[in-house]
Amino acid sequence: MFEDSSFAIHPNKLGKSMDSRYHDIGEILSFEQQGHVYIITCKNGFMKIVFYQNDIVRIVMNPLVEPSLKSSVAVIEQPKKISVKLQQLKDRIILTSTKLSLELFKTPCRLTIRDETGEVLLTEGSKGIGTKATSEVVCYKVMTEDDHFYGFGEKTGYLNKRGEKMVMWNTDVYAPHNPETDPLYQSIPFFMAVRNGSAYGIFFDNTFKTTFDFKTETDLYSFSANGGQLDYYVFSGPSPKDVVRQYTHLTGRMPLPPKWALGYHQSKYSYMSESEVRELIHNFIEKDIPVDAIYLDIHYMDEYRVFTFDQHSFPNPQQLIADLKSKGIHLIPIVDPGVKKDPSYNIYKDGILKNHFCKYLEGDIYIDEVWPGESAFPDFSKTETQKWWADNHTFYTDLGIEGIWNDMNEPAVFNNTKTMDLEVIHDNDGDIRTHAELHNLYGLLMGMSTYNGLVEQLQGKRPFLLTRAGYSGIQRYAAVWTGDNRSFWEHLEMSLPMCMNLGISGVAFCGPDVGGFAHDCNGQLLTRWIQVGAFTPFFRNHNALDTNSQEPWAFGAKYESIIRKYIQLRYRWLPHLYTLFSECSRTGIPVMRPLVLEYPGDKHVWNLSDQFMIGENVIIAPILRPDTFHRVVYLPDGEWINYWTDQVLIGDKHLLIEADLETLPIFIKKGAIIAQGASKQSTMVAETDMQIHIYPDENVASSYTLYDDDGTTFNYMYGQYFEKKITCMYSGDTLNISVENIISTYKPSWKQWKLIVHLANENTKLFINKKQIPNENIIFHHESHTIEVTVDQ
Ligand code: GLC
Repeated sequence: MFEDSSFAIHPNKLGKSMDSRYHDIGEILSFEQQGHVYIITCKNGFMKIVFYQNDIVRIVMNPLVEPSLKSSVAVIEQPKKISVKLQQLKDRIILTSTKLSLELFKTPCRLTIRDETGEVLLTEGSKGIGTKATSEVVCYKVMTEDDHFYGFGEKTGYLNKRGEKMVMWNTDVYAPHNPETDPLYQSIPFFMAVRNGSAYGIFFDNTFKTTFDFKTETDLYSFSANGGQLDYYVFSGPSPKDVVRQYTHLTGRMPLPPKWALGYHQSKYSYMSESEVRELIHNFIEKDIPVDAIYLDIHYMDEYRVFTFDQHSFPNPQQLIADLKSKGIHLIPIVDPGVKKDPSYNIYKDGILKNHFCKYLEGDIYIDEVWPGESAFPDFSKTETQKWWADNHTFYTDLGIEGIWNDMNEPAVFNNTKTMDLEVIHDNDGDIRTHAELHNLYGLLMGMSTYNGLVEQLQGKRPFLLTRAGYSGIQRYAAVWTGDNRSFWEHLEMSLPMCMNLGISGVAFCGPDVGGFAHDCNGQLLTRWIQVGAFTPFFRNHNALDTNSQEPWAFGAKYESIIRKYIQLRYRWLPHLYTLFSECSRTGIPVMRPLVLEYPGDKHVWNLSDQFMIGENVIIAPILRPDTFHRVVYLPDGEWINYWTDQVLIGDKHLLIEADLETLPIFIKKGAIIAQGASKQSTMVAETDMQIHIYPDENVASSYTLYDDDGTTFNYMYGQYFEKKITCMYSGDTLNISVENIISTYKPSWKQWKLIVHLANENTKLFINKKQIPNENIIFHHESHTIEVTVDQ
């Protein structure tokens, strides 16, 4: 077309429109301080530097104008007033806090950050900060041989992302979830670098499409964005756990979920009717398999209209929900953002009349296809729309619902781009932005609206929200499941590093679809996957339409009995898991951890992707291959105990471990103390069998603080909880245990607890709070070499 016009010589046709070369910010021309903000003018751009606290510093660059210090909704902290020493030297400027020093070299502008000991954390080399093309901001840092990279949220592939190039752009990927499939549903532009046991972190707070490149150059890595400012925070560690604490201080931590959300969840696309749900529950109870939540996928609705029930298949949802609750089970309906275009449908009508849907600048509402056909999409960037959407949830909460599942909130749209037109605008409370800029925030803002609505409506009860899409900060509102995986052994394997990296990225409450979503599962795969699921923070079995059923009993008695054993094991471990959830809600340190978080100096764990830790002293090393009954397990330095046999193994070694289909290899570090309870039909059944297991380590003191609270309200935030501290010292044949209830403003349901000491012998003398326990009060189990004592709360 137009070939006979000047279009024939259009620069695009000549391939000269996009200058993708790097343009450096150039030398520093001026430097000034305004309060706690340092303002730097360079030849080709402007920078601001702000210390948030002694170990967090923010750097913002805008190539065109003085940078704005408005941060995205991910950031919930303001800078603290700290004292920073300023030194102006001829060739550089140095800013020093108690934890880090930042050196800004002048010609050209290059940054080096050192830790408190003067060791270089990060530095820039031949390239630093600059631009590419017309609106792309980019930052290069030096990558040394010893650097290993973790975090980045939900990514395929192995644990260590060195050598990878990753994009952040929330995307609905039904298939294939291969190692190179990128991006997926979440955008968490955060990572940590671990070098010789120490770590620093970077959070690149830019909501446009961003790219993290550890691949293109051998001695530099970069992060860049398609628009906006170069706005990033550096966390100075020095340990990997410090980096997680610092990042989650800035972007928030998971509030404690209701206890029932930690139980086993059963889902399917879709349980089609009330009677199908009732039969499902009947089976769980009959078969003595614990369950805490059942999901309703899109078929529960009237032609996929959100905030409705299909009256034929679900004639009396209120009764159904009440009946389930009386059995300790919660019902969780799916809620997608697409609102069916239908003038007779109240939500659509109301949304149009009150101006709640996304639009083009010219005024037309953006309409595109999702499950209900043509649909409109709420503009969650607007506070009023958030409130409107939240208020609509009274439809569910009035029926007794306490948990919601948000899906398709990338947002996913059935068109070639898979999402909303990038030219659609978001009102953003009057500060209009394009979808290109706010796309990655859509799921987070929907989650924020939904969670806040539920908190208000449930009047003091903790809600549960599950989401597919999100951005940094999503942990404040929702658990994340990793989307449409498949019933492949490879996907079971890939889910481990994916969830470990999500945990490092602040999203501790996560898990994959257990059993795999698409494709047909089989008994062996489901069994092995349930074994892993019993220890992933979020534990839900979900599968797709037209695939084999994969409820725990779907593949016959042999598999059913092992699956039962492991779902029950999950419930037995809940007191310990809940204690770790509580730690996570206070510190951000994830429940499910890569070994590198605990042993960052050990080279064997830098890319160890097929085993993980629960807390600081339990290793789970699952079988991830079909017909495989052994595997190599790496145990770090120290002594480890096989959970099933109490056999002691010496670490700092790779070991070949046998594991028949019944066995999930679990190793407990000597010195560990772990609380366990009884298996139960659901978490709603009160705990009566509290056990505290001690695995004493000779001549090494160890301690544990068991946490508990009512599991349902926010009272824990106001000081109502229970903490029991147990300290243990074993020397000679004497085991000294001190027990102290640090806080008991909440009284647990159990009145007594059992102390179980492993690796004991008949001569072990036991002292509790300095009083020797008489032999007649001790039960010695010869076969297991454990001693058992019952103690009052
Ligand atoms: C999406 C979700 C999946 C759900 C399906 C139908 O594919 O990822 O979990 O079952 O939609 O709602």
